[in-house]
Amino acid sequence: MPDIAYEQARHGSSIGQPLTRRDGFLKVTGGATFAADNRPEGMLHAVIAVSRIARGRVTHLDVAAAKAHPGVVDVMVPGNAPKLAADPDAKNDPFTFRLDLLQNDRVRYAHQPIAVVIAQTLEAATEGAELLAPRYEIEAPRIGLDTAEAHKPQAVGAGDKTAATKGDVEAGLANAERRIEAVYETPAQYHNAMEPHAIVAQWDGDRLTVDTPSQGMAMATMRLAGLFGIDPKNILVRSPFLGGGFGSKGFLSGPQVLGVMAAKHVGRPVKLVLRREQMFGPVGHRAETRQTLRLGTDGSGALTALDHHTLTATSSFDDFYEPASALSRYLYKAPALATTHSGVRLDTGTPLFMRAPGEASGSAALEAAIDEMAEACGMDPLAFRFANYAEAEPISERPFSSKALRECYEQGAARFGWERRSSAPRSMRDAAGRLVGWGVGTALFPALMMQAEARAEIRADGSGTVAIGAHDMGQGAWTALAQIGADGLGIDLDQLDFRSGSSDLPNGGIAGGSAHTATAGAAIHSAAAAVLAQLSDLATGDERSPLFGAGNAGVYAAGGRLIRRDDESRAESFSDILARAGKDSISASGKGAPDPASRESYAMHAHGAVFAEVTVDPDLGQIRVTRLVGAFAAGRIVNPRLVTSQYYGGMIWGVSFALHENAVVDPRSGRVMNPNLGEYHVPVNADVPSIEAILVEEHDPHVNPLGIKGVGEIGITGTAGAIANAVYHATGVRVRKMPITLDKVL
Ligand code: MOS
Repeated sequence: MPDIAYEQARHGSSIGQPLTRRDGFLKVTGGATFAADNRPEGMLHAVIAVSRIARGRVTHLDVAAAKAHPGVVDVMVPGNAPKLAADPDAKNDPFTFRLDLLQNDRVRYAHQPIAVVIAQTLEAATEGAELLAPRYEIEAPRIGLDTAEAHKPQAVGAGDKTAATKGDVEAGLANAERRIEAVYETPAQYHNAMEPHAIVAQWDGDRLTVDTPSQGMAMATMRLAGLFGIDPKNILVRSPFLGGGFGSKGFLSGPQVLGVMAAKHVGRPVKLVLRREQMFGPVGHRAETRQTLRLGTDGSGALTALDHHTLTATSSFDDFYEPASALSRYLYKAPALATTHSGVRLDTGTPLFMRAPGEASGSAALEAAIDEMAEACGMDPLAFRFANYAEAEPISERPFSSKALRECYEQGAARFGWERRSSAPRSMRDAAGRLVGWGVGTALFPALMMQAEARAEIRADGSGTVAIGAHDMGQGAWTALAQIGADGLGIDLDQLDFRSGSSDLPNGGIAGGSAHTATAGAAIHSAAAAVLAQLSDLATGDERSPLFGAGNAGVYAAGGRLIRRDDESRAESFSDILARAGKDSISASGKGAPDPASRESYAMHAHGAVFAEVTVDPDLGQIRVTRLVGAFAAGRIVNPRLVTSQYYGGMIWGVSFALHENAVVDPRSGRVMNPNLGEYHVPVNADVPSIEAILVEEHDPHVNPLGIKGVGEIGITGTAGAIANAVYHATGVRVRKMPITLDKVL
């Protein structure tokens, strides 16, 4: 039986179109309302005061001085903060993160909130927070991977297994003709979305309305309901637009909850916006890693063993670990494989999902190690990857639901001109005499599916509605999901009213794990299919209809009409069908979720290949990425323009990872010393002169009904390694500690 959803999408006119963002005009004209743009009547401003120490206790706050400020309304501190219905330190599941909500005077990391000042103006609140002049009882902070005793983490990432192995790695290494062992380090990084965490909170008795950026409104609602002991039905979370999230807005952070507490404390609406420097602590980060890679090959360059161990850090009080070794379970064929993790506890804020959590750091190390091994074998790095191409998932040995990585390598290499690469390091120069290096990295990101619900409706005038509490972080959900909705209902996009971005709509799940379009899209498609099923029942069961007797599977919808598959000249408009049935509208709900059977049978990943060119000034060491070509295969492409943008964004993160981002922590104070965008470097346009993304065709009949794999995070994987390899090719220097800066190549 044909898959109805896939079939239906094939007849539509929206999926596959390179539409511009439907919300783009609002955004560039200032018409899009971000959380901090809201200003309810009577609103006050809240500013948090944060700890300057990383471990210890707050012994004194000059609340009287702050309250004496003429604009200050009140100061919320541990002694007077609203009582919570649930302990914010209770952990019920891996997705409930412990929060610091002024329940005691303990300090667990630098920049932990220690008070909230509420005032008539932002300026008064800011000044009031300064006047608190905290005093501390200081304990020496545990900072850096060497300061604490290593232990085995209970959980990595979202409760993933910490270790996966196959075969005998030690024997594989012992029997290898060639071996390498290398240690790679990646620094702590912070999300730094353009929009800081912000919240406008309003209480009306037991009812709570919040405007706040969220990648998961339904989970935020449940967290608020638990903390404040109120019915989730009385909570409205609005998050129509986000200025980026990168994982840091997946879970409600402490400062967001403090905004809600502040509104309760003063009995007025309150706005709380983090300053940039306050984002370096309480809202998550990517922890540092130290990864040890051991590889062995036989005489033909085939891997005999691959061992990938990651040492990383979490906070002293919670359990998120960067699962950096996990990617090695999926990528290269080897008879013996081990991927393991260990951790230390540090006095930092709890790390969190951040832009390909695990895969980004892991890929940076793995792809460099693969390059080193290829060189040890005297092989071209691309030829080495072909020689170790996995036809089945290496550890699980399941077949891939689809894998067009070979085509990615080929198309990317052709566009880049890889065949003109001279293999020896320092052997290529540009016209100005700068060293030129070319490197390649393999990209991979799991094709995840989560859970979501949607509602769809067709009305008598032929128009339709799709409603889903989905999240547009800037990736284009308002556009891509509307395209899926229009095709699902068989109407033109301009006939569709797409409602999203609010928690009173059906639960759109989480915009994370690069799975939002696939998951929310599946929910939308199933709701639309249920509407069409009802509509076609009305028509195909009625002898007055030209569709009579065709049966549900015998019709498809397009252009606001149901059309017979066996005779496309026979069709009937939705309006006519509804009019004859005497109905104003038909609506239905649908769900999107992973299919356990196909997930069990197949390994599901998106793949890609990234080719990088760098130039390095031989005297000054200045490194420039001059060219990036990425070729990616990720199943069905809903909107090639948006997908290309996602790949660009991902590759730019890769540039950022390889060359720029580095949170420098002062080991004495435990504070990040560069908590601002002046000194925490991210790429600007001048850092990314030429970037190309190739959309490699791939059909995946198993991953989900629409054949969609995620595209949001894959671009960062592969890219950082490709750049590191290009820097080696240019200079002959292997920099194994990121970011790669000029002092390390001279
Ligand atoms: Mo992503 S780190 O799952 O927002």
